[in-house]
Order: sequence, then structure tokens, then C-alpha cells
Amino acid sequence: MKGLILAGGAGSRLYPLTQVMSKQLLPVYDKPMIYYPLTVLIAGGIREIGLVASPQDLPRFQQLLGDGSQWGIQIQYFEQARPDGIAQAFLLAADFIQSGPVTLMLGDNLFFGGDALPRALTEFQAGATIFAYHVNNPECYGVVEFDQEGRAKSLEEKPVSPRSPFAVPGVYLYDHQVVEIARQLKPSARGELEITDVNREYLRRGQLRVTRLSRGFAWLDAGTSSSLFEASAFVQTIEKRQGIKLGCPEEAALRRGFLSELAFEELLKKMPACEYRDYLASVGVEISRGSAVAA
Ligand code: TTP
Repeated sequence: MKGLILAGGAGSRLYPLTQVMSKQLLPVYDKPMIYYPLTVLIAGGIREIGLVASPQDLPRFQQLLGDGSQWGIQIQYFEQARPDGIAQAFLLAADFIQSGPVTLMLGDNLFFGGDALPRALTEFQAGATIFAYHVNNPECYGVVEFDQEGRAKSLEEKPVSPRSPFAVPGVYLYDHQVVEIARQLKPSARGELEITDVNREYLRRGQLRVTRLSRGFAWLDAGTSSSLFEASAFVQTIEKRQGIKLGCPEEAALRRGFLSELAFEELLKKMPACEYRDYLASVGVEISRGSAVAA
């Protein structure tokens, strides 16, 4: 399984925050936003990751994340000249995806809790797996409707009158067919290659699996100033209460065995004295004592 993170887009709803800064580099409490989806992929065991960004922002991502080797992973970069839609990522990164499978994550989506995502990544075999999450504003997202047996019946992108309260979060697992499906897509009325159209095609082929994320699982999207603020507040609340940090790629890489304890220690030596380094140091100590609980 490879991973693809979408960090392009216009970020117009966050103007003027996004006037000179990419949305996915803005802070969510104590880390850049991009750390959170990246950590989900690493925790899910993915080592080969592609990142899609606009030509002006791409160098900043390279500066922040490098080639990934510091975390025992490989990061490749793909320029998206214009925000022509999420599904365009499959065309830009077709050579990287090759024969798949691939997990696509939106760079402004945050996921916390449970083992639903790592399990889905490990268990994925073929077709497509997407998720459904109960929200109070489904009209802002792709919406999935279920039949009486709980099977996905329809998918609609930002419907005016949603047929269900279940939105589709920004994490999608696809097999090799996705590049060929993306090549057949036509731009929607808003001029974008829509991810919902990719999912619809898998549904039409009878190969779409929709997993409902349970009560208590947290999916946040940080695309507006309120939701960005709420995401920061959420992360701060959990981190303060539990004494753990969310969205640390170093920690995920160590727990996954992508980094040796020695390499982890070396990485810490390069960081300035700060709360982030102190936290990682405490994780390193716990793990080397064998007393770590999977957090
Ligand atoms: P959106 O939040 O739908 O779009 P946006 O980021 O352009 O923001 P706005 O609507 O405020 O202008 O995008 C969801 C994610 O997908 C986000 O991380 C950006 C990314 N994206 C791309 O990388 N390329 C694209 O062409 C689009 C449309 C989105």
C-alpha cells in the first residue's frame, strides 16, 4: 500500500490566512496540519508516500518534510498546477501509484481514535474502501446513503438536500483500477475532477465497501476558520488530559519499527529544546523500557 496526501487546493475559505501560506502548513495546535494525515499513514504501516501541492507551496513542504528518510519513509512530491480537483491526484501520481493499492488522504482532514483506519489499511485487498461518519452538516461533503441492509446505495457530492447524515471523510483506499477510472472522468459542473465520481464508479462496479466510523471516533476537517480553531482546541484538550501527543510522525515511525531506537535518539538531538522534543524523549524512554502502551 502506498499513500497519497493532497495538500494543494485554493484554501479560499481561510483567506487571508492562506494568502501567503498553504492551508496544510498552518498550525493545528502545536504542529503543522500536514503532520496529522502523515502520521495516520505511517501508523497504518505505509512507507511510500506521495504529496501533491501547488507549485508555489511545494518547496515549503519539501523544506519541512524532506525525502522522509529521517522517519524511515520515502516522500515524493507532485505539482498540481491548478486546483482542478481531488481526483486529479491519480493522474499526476500515476507513475508513483503504478499497480496500487493506494490510500488517498486529504491534507486538511484529521482522524483520531480507535483502530478503524490502521485495520482497514492492513485488511484492504481489492476494490475501494471508503468511510461514513455521522455529521450535522452533511451538505458540505460527499454524502453516502445506505439501503435497508446497510449497503451503500447512492453517493452525492455536496447535495443541497442530503439523503442521509453520513458524510464521506477524506481518507479513501483504492486498488489499481483507480488510475484508469480517474482517466475516464469528466470535470463536474464546478470544473473539478471529483473524488465522489471515482467512488460512484466503484459503486457501479459493485466494488465499493463503506465502513461506518463508530461513535466516539473523531473526524475533523480544518478547512474553515472555525473548524481550524476547533481542531486546535480538540488536540489541545486530548493532549493536556492524556499527556500524549497526537500527530507526531516520529512517534508513529518508532512504534511501527520504521525507525530504530538509535535513529530516533539521533533525530531528537537535531531538535531544539522544546515541549515536542521532551515528549518524544519520554516516548523513547517508555519504549526502550518496554512499558509503552499503544497510544
Ligand atoms: P477543499 O477543502 O475542498 O478545497 P480547498 O483546500 O481548495 O479549500 P477552499 O474550498 O476553501 O478553497 O480541499 C480538500 C483537500 O484537498 C485540501 O487538503 C486541499 C486538497 N485539494 C487539492 O490538493 N487539490 C485540489 O484540486 C483540490 C480541489 C483540493
